[in-house]
Amino acid sequence: MAHTDQAEPTRRDFLYIATGAMGAVGVGALAWPFIDQMNPDAGALALASIEVDISSVEEGQSVTVTWRGKPVFIRYRTPAEIDEANSTPIEALPDPLARNSNLPADAPATDANRGAEGAEQWLVQVGICTHLGCVPMGDGAGEYNGWFCPCHGSHYDTAGRIRKGPAPENLLIPPYRFVTDTTIEIG
Ligand code: FES
Repeated sequence: MAHTDQAEPTRRDFLYIATGAMGAVGVGALAWPFIDQMNPDAGALALASIEVDISSVEEGQSVTVTWRGKPVFIRYRTPAEIDEANSTPIEALPDPLARNSNLPADAPATDANRGAEGAEQWLVQVGICTHLGCVPMGDGAGEYNGWFCPCHGSHYDTAGRIRKGPAPENLLIPPYRFVTDTTIEIG
């Protein structure tokens, strides 16, 4: 009997193994909060904003900038990407809320509420998976042609809305505004 117990992994062994595996993918999840802690203080953070020149970004391209220590994805979407997002009914979305810092908290997750007001081709999002904080891959990644988080398999669509996988919320849209036609102020 004792021999059998030693030969097979115990429940405790399994937990250690599982924890080790989680540790390997958990690095990205821990990275952003740690960087946040190194920022100066809450007052300085509240004021922090950046201006981004998007004049060189072409249709179908994305750029990633850093804002308050976090990646922000700025994508110039194609008409096909916008059509795809528009054709998806709200009822099909795991998270029906827009998660747009520029709109009321209960705004629905329509494509219009996700894209920039008056310039729906632009999609500006905090590039942190809403599951455990990894940075998703973009530019048409995943089963919904938007972003894909490889840590635990979350698929976001062309409007950055979660469609499949463990992430509970759509990618967050930060506060931002167009200063000119080709300059965005984030924060
Ligand atoms: S961090 Fe788990 S799916 Fe993205």
